[in-house]
Amino acid sequence: MHNPALQACGIDAQYVRVQVPVGSVKEAFGLFVKHGFLGVNITIPHKFEALEAVDVLDPLARRLGAVNTLAIRDGQMFGYNTDGPGFLRSVKEAFGADVKDLRLLILGAGGGAGRAVAVQSVLSGCRHLLLANRTESKLAPLLNELSGLTDPSAPVQLQTCTLDPADLAARLPEVDLIVNATSVGMKAEDAPLLPAGCLEARHFVYDMVYRASGPTELIQAATAAGAPYADGMCLLLHQGAISFEHWFPNETAPIEVMRKGLLG
Ligand code: ATR
Repeated sequence: MHNPALQACGIDAQYVRVQVPVGSVKEAFGLFVKHGFLGVNITIPHKFEALEAVDVLDPLARRLGAVNTLAIRDGQMFGYNTDGPGFLRSVKEAFGADVKDLRLLILGAGGGAGRAVAVQSVLSGCRHLLLANRTESKLAPLLNELSGLTDPSAPVQLQTCTLDPADLAARLPEVDLIVNATSVGMKAEDAPLLPAGCLEARHFVYDMVYRASGPTELIQAATAAGAPYADGMCLLLHQGAISFEHWFPNETAPIEVMRKGLLG
């Protein structure tokens, strides 16, 4: 998506893939600066190591606990997180709604992606969150953190539930946006997280998983219910567009060119 975007904007640059061993992020960043790179995307498993390797850390990246974008300006390394803002933009595009106005259920809130969605959503004004995780003990630190972010004048309703199908089915009527932030759905043989028939057409369904071989069970269930949905490709597109704008602040990311580059 980035090479077509560079071309469309008439920028004489190239986006290339570089494999970096775990533990070598700082050294790699030094080489990127030395060799005149303008910016970098950082993906799993380096997003946490990158936090410590930049010169200037954006406050949102600090808050979300991960850096996925590096912008190099005058030899200085600026670290950003575009996954959180990319999530907000993709919700707006897919559902025509702002996260702040929605009641949110996060499946897998104890994992890295779910935690980032929860923190970004609260920072953006979301006031109703229902958090679920297979390992329930992993939710305690997140609940603590989210409580610390809230403004006493606009308290956040934070609740938890299990991934037990009956429990989930009973809670779905009280949420609008359902985010799957677990890795369930990556493999075709994964059992669906939501019990059959409990989605409604008014739900917004966001599966952060993208499966190249075809729609996940969750997306299939959304389609069957007539509910609008977004998948991991939407997140990839929008976080990429925001990264592009960090590298080229005078440009608006050519989103349709990027989408075509991604989806073919
Ligand atoms: P991280 O994002 O922190 O690297 P991960 O191991 O990739 O973590 O797992 C992401 C999320 O998927 C976690 O919430 C994980 O639940 P646990 O905290 O209980 O491990 C969730 N997850 C992975 N496989 C799952 C499954 N089969 N059923 C339910 N949740 C699952």
